[in-house]
Amino acid sequence: MSEPLRNAVVPAGTVLCRLDDIADGNTKGFVLGEGDWPLRGLLVREGAAVRGFVNHCPHAGHRLNFHPDRFLTPDGKLILCLSHGAVFDKRSGACVMGPCVGESLKPVTVVVENGEVRTATPLDVDALATRYW
Ligand code: FES
Repeated sequence: MSEPLRNAVVPAGTVLCRLDDIADGNTKGFVLGEGDWPLRGLLVREGAAVRGFVNHCPHAGHRLNFHPDRFLTPDGKLILCLSHGAVFDKRSGACVMGPCVGESLKPVTVVVENGEVRTATPLDVDALATRYW
């Protein structure tokens, strides 16, 4: 029996996208790693600041979005899980309403350098990989 594909640890400084790829106040998805279970994440931009989270809802373990790069409530103020309607704070990732209040999206620390959004720390893709139910 062969071993499942192992993803490498992604080093700090890995480019996820350009800052200009994310409209101010909006979001963008990203994928790191290969195989069936890469790390799927989302980036949230507010001005020059960008925050990252794993795209994995703490309620039932579903992916948050149905459409690429679209993660927000219609008014753009909160992150929305389309499965059962949990909403999350854009800065902290904390669930503020819905079935998982008190839980949070897992953060992915990022930095903006020279107009690029980069990972701030090494990321173990297999440890953070999103296995959806
Ligand atoms: S899986 Fe996200 S609200 Fe249920």
